[in-house]
Amino acid sequence: MSKDKVQIFDTTLRDGEQVPGCKLDTTQKLVIAERLELLGVDVIEAGFPISSPGDFKSVEEIAKLIKNVTVCGLTRAVKKDIEVAAEALKYAKRPRIHTGIGTSESHIKFKFNSNKDAIIERAVEAVSYAKSFVEDVEFYAEDAGRTDNEFLARVCEAVIKAGATVLNIPDTTGYCLPEEYGAKIKYLRENVTGIDKAILSCHCHNDLGLATANSIAGVTNGARQIECTINGIGERAGNTALEEVVMILRQHPTLGLDTNINSTLLNDTSRMVSQKMGMIVQPNKAIVGANAFAHSSGIHQDGVIKNRETYEIIDPADVGVDESSIVLTARSGRAALAYRAKIVGYELTKVQLDAVYQEFLKFADLKKEILDEDIHKIIELSSVEKENIA
Ligand code: KIV
Ligand code: ZN
Repeated sequence: MSKDKVQIFDTTLRDGEQVPGCKLDTTQKLVIAERLELLGVDVIEAGFPISSPGDFKSVEEIAKLIKNVTVCGLTRAVKKDIEVAAEALKYAKRPRIHTGIGTSESHIKFKFNSNKDAIIERAVEAVSYAKSFVEDVEFYAEDAGRTDNEFLARVCEAVIKAGATVLNIPDTTGYCLPEEYGAKIKYLRENVTGIDKAILSCHCHNDLGLATANSIAGVTNGARQIECTINGIGERAGNTALEEVVMILRQHPTLGLDTNINSTLLNDTSRMVSQKMGMIVQPNKAIVGANAFAHSSGIHQDGVIKNRETYEIIDPADVGVDESSIVLTARSGRAALAYRAKIVGYELTKVQLDAVYQEFLKFADLKKEILDEDIHKIIELSSVEKENIA
């Protein structure tokens, strides 16, 4: 069965870079952009050109460098922003302007001191103006997650008429539940005239830890683009993690959806971004965390040594991790100790293993993790004669 393609819109260099302390210079951004192209993303959101001369330059240089991927620049629904973005993107082979405005009650009232009709007018003006520079114009309805669906549908219809090619439905505050976000996408598909002319896009924030679940609910309800970042970095609790949505679609073929991502580059790309941005990846992070394929409890280790699939749903090689690791701790069992002892050169009989294991437990209760050099010491201290070990 051929699968429907979900476009991956990477915003590591824009929403991701908004994180305090994660600022990158142009050279670093170029290296990451090149890697994202190699990874197989469909769109790189390179920055917010009007925000600073440095960001303008980065977008311009990325636009010159990247040949096979759409390069996108963010704007507000403001003429000057759009002009500056168009200028920064002028060398892009496939330029996209990403413009938009807040559509929720709270944004309309407190940010713009405006009303619904005036917001639609500004949205349409912005899209039409962007369209005078580039063919590919994405519109974002900021805070769509908290925008009433009926009004959101009116906005979407109006901007499609003005030429928007992609409709971004951001859950800007990370408030939605997956069913709610999925229902929003479904509502738009069923109630917006002309919806077939545009791609619906999910842009979910992680304030309640639901960004990935919401993005998946979006695509199972008809969206065909996910906006995400490497390692899920981004404002506050972050954005949808690219590696998570890619692997969810790959590990669940019955969804009938896939991306163009070369998943074997995920681990390496995660490390590169983490290192360049100085943002550590939590060890238990799905897919790319240091512990994502590490097993430390005796029951799990015994299973994994017998057959990896007992406790792993992803082959580590599929995401660029060499192999699963068996970590020795006080919770480890004999199977794990024998396995690691063999790797460092000792083939223990059952009787020898019993003796070495008792010594191992004394060590393990004192240390967080038993390393290879500790195994040599443990074998020396146990009553087992080293010469008798195979
Ligand atoms: O979260 C958001 O609403 C955004 C928009 C600017 C696209 O990042
Ligand atoms: Zn965002």
